[in-house]
Amino acid sequence: MRHEPIGKELFISNRRRLIKKLKPGSLVVFNSNDIMPSNADGTLGYIQNSDLYYVSGIHQEESMVVICPDFPDKKYREVLFLREPNELMEKWEGHKLTKKEATAISGIETVVWVSGFEKLFHHMVTMGGVDNVYLNTNEHYRSEVVVQSRDARFIDWCQRTYPLHRYRRIAPIMSELRRVKQPREIELMQRACDITECGFRRVLNYVRPGVMEYEIEAEFIHEFKRLGSKGFAYTPIIASGSNNVILHYVENSQQCHAGDLLLLDVAAEYANYNSDLTRTIPVSGKFTRRQKEVYNAVLRIHRQAMKLLRPNVVYFDYQKEIEKLMEAELLKLKLIDKTDIKKQSPENPAFRKYFYHGTSHMLGLDVHDVGNMHDQVQVGSVWTIEPGIYIKEEKFGIRLENNVVIGKNKNHDLMSNIPIEAEEIEEIMNQKRS
Ligand code: GLY
Ligand code: MN
Ligand code: MN
Repeated sequence: MRHEPIGKELFISNRRRLIKKLKPGSLVVFNSNDIMPSNADGTLGYIQNSDLYYVSGIHQEESMVVICPDFPDKKYREVLFLREPNELMEKWEGHKLTKKEATAISGIETVVWVSGFEKLFHHMVTMGGVDNVYLNTNEHYRSEVVVQSRDARFIDWCQRTYPLHRYRRIAPIMSELRRVKQPREIELMQRACDITECGFRRVLNYVRPGVMEYEIEAEFIHEFKRLGSKGFAYTPIIASGSNNVILHYVENSQQCHAGDLLLLDVAAEYANYNSDLTRTIPVSGKFTRRQKEVYNAVLRIHRQAMKLLRPNVVYFDYQKEIEKLMEAELLKLKLIDKTDIKKQSPENPAFRKYFYHGTSHMLGLDVHDVGNMHDQVQVGSVWTIEPGIYIKEEKFGIRLENNVVIGKNKNHDLMSNIPIEAEEIEEIMNQKRS
């Protein structure tokens, strides 16, 4: 692995907190993700299942974790199943985890080769006083799953093999646990943000009229990987000129021109934890008056949002507050007028033409992290703050995005070191280039 050791204590404590939420006589199964195919014999880069990682820290395919807290023999209360390494596999794919290494990462003492899963699982599920079998599915509010995951295949197999057990969903419990971050998780997210900062500063030093969006992408990835990240936390959005207004512009194929703005929604992962940054900068190192006027409107909302997203607030009420602020800023910018306000309806508010996404989402092992958005905001949860104004007719859009930990007395901005003031960005861009 590229990152520093996380320490098994985090995963031991994650399992301990999970076990407290289970009913008596329970067993839980976590599956790793599949290696996804591309074409021919190609595969995509491996992405671990976030829940399995959360309870084990194991980043290896074909792994399983079974937790059975009431099993009579202590040895089988937590079991990690792994692919058995062999000489041929290691010749082609390199090193795979040994049992000892897996125990050091996860704190799980009993590690068994996955080829022995069915036999040991039968023992656990029949001899462990198990009434409730918790299985996992992707219940993310925005997921549109179209492939059958290992979890889904396992559910089929398990329910066919043990039809009379009582099956329960682990996803709501994982979502509740994962939304509040442990101090070690915050450290890892801070590291992801710091790596992102280095990438952004490198790009501030690099951007000038004539560069291609994909050249900027290359600068970011160079810096991220150099610093121990596996790479981008999500597909980078490097959008110059009128591409600014397309929320998920990922082609990154155009040339950057003098006078245009460049919207950079680019961030690094670290140890499977994500950061999520957006900055909007002037290609030629200086904002026009109009660009700066809109920039500062977005920045004012950003700063207000930092204060409004507080413990016990419900996200959707906060979003309404932001929309009111946005309406006022858009009036000041003369993008909408009193007639637009009179004509608007709840389904078709006037601001929607220029601000057409949510202001925040939770962040963690997933970029749009788990956690019920209808619940009150929790101390220790990590959120993005990302208002934006997109003016198609003026061919530019501006979004500013930071990541904050919700604190009891005040929020902690994990990106407070990343330049955000228009003047600071201009100053850095106009320093003598290296
Ligand atoms: N980069 C994805 C997002 O901002 O939600
Ligand atoms: Mn975001
Ligand atoms: Mn983003």
